[in-house]
Amino acid sequence: MNEPIPLAQPDIGEREERAVLDVLRSRRLALGPALGEFERRFAAHLGADHVSAVSSGTAALHLGVRAAGIAEGDEVVTSPFSFVASANCVLYERARPVFCDIDRRTLNIDPGAAEAAVTPRTTGILPVHIFGHPVDMPALERLATARGLWMVEDACEALGAVHADGRPVGARGNLATFGFYPNKQLTTGEGGVVVSPAAPVKQRIDSERNQGRAPDMGWLDHDRLGFNYRMDDLSCGLGIAQLDHLDEMLAARARVAGLYAQALAELDVELPCPDQGGDRRSWFVYVVQLPPRVDRDQAVRALREHGVDSKPYLPAIHLFSFYRERFGHREGEFPVSEDVARRSLALPFFGALTEGQVARVAAALSAVLDQATHPAPS
Ligand SMILES: Cc1ncc(COP(=O)(O)O)c(C=O)c1O
Repeated sequence: MNEPIPLAQPDIGEREERAVLDVLRSRRLALGPALGEFERRFAAHLGADHVSAVSSGTAALHLGVRAAGIAEGDEVVTSPFSFVASANCVLYERARPVFCDIDRRTLNIDPGAAEAAVTPRTTGILPVHIFGHPVDMPALERLATARGLWMVEDACEALGAVHADGRPVGARGNLATFGFYPNKQLTTGEGGVVVSPAAPVKQRIDSERNQGRAPDMGWLDHDRLGFNYRMDDLSCGLGIAQLDHLDEMLAARARVAGLYAQALAELDVELPCPDQGGDRRSWFVYVVQLPPRVDRDQAVRALREHGVDSKPYLPAIHLFSFYRERFGHREGEFPVSEDVARRSLALPFFGALTEGQVARVAAALSAVLDQATHPAPS
């Protein structure tokens, strides 16, 4: 059988190896010069002024909601169709994530549903640019302004995406977060950044990521509660090298998405929505939706037998047992999110996928769909 095709693979080459070795040889492995350099280069690439590198996308979200002013008992409107970290960061501060349903085309939070979810206890909105597709931020910004709400954008999956007005996702002047886990458009191993709207906000975040220490304080002086959410310099070195060819990596992902769109055109699956109205997706994953007649989890197992890795992606957050037990969530609350979560399937996706590999995935998926329609007689 052919080599199995993995779900994701970071684009790491000699320049990354050299960059990490350079940091290693410098012996400056944490709080060294690579930290500031990565932040400056990331900020310049994004077109933002204030960037703090941290240890993960989750840490970025946690520091982001704290900087926004979240408090115990607050309600925060967010998407149930996301990676669990975007809701968990609200719980870290003893506030409550209030979910609202998503738009069936973009799979992002539906501004109308967000508005309906606002109560007198709501203090913030936490939209997620899911699968790299820009959220309708102008609509949410109007809602936030009208109701006096803060905003933290979860752009962990959306580095490189652009809004219809030309502004890059994460560079609209809101607090925004990015994540750099190895399946992301850019990786630092583990890592993330927070984009801040102003210098004092960045200063607070820089302090909180470093145990609550101000930049001019001594090693063991701490003037606020903080965490160890620092990004180490090896990760920063890797990130700098990745930034050097980010545009090429994004283009390679877009090329693979184009290959999939062609290869899957005749199959009975829903493809990711094409760009529309000037919004530009940054390709993070390639997720299709299977027809309702197909058992998705069975399809994952069958694809594996064909040497193709795939994954149910994403489950709806409110239906995790922890969220059900804590908040009494139940099926039927967010019908679009639940339907999409039940049918969505992430296929292998990374920039180095070849046309031949995409064709293999398409052939395997076609066979699996065929079998699901006409099960072999037992
Ligand atoms: C939408 C979203 N939010 C948050 C995160 C959390 O990032 P990390 O895994 O780096 O903590 C991820 C990453 O997987 C994500 O996809």
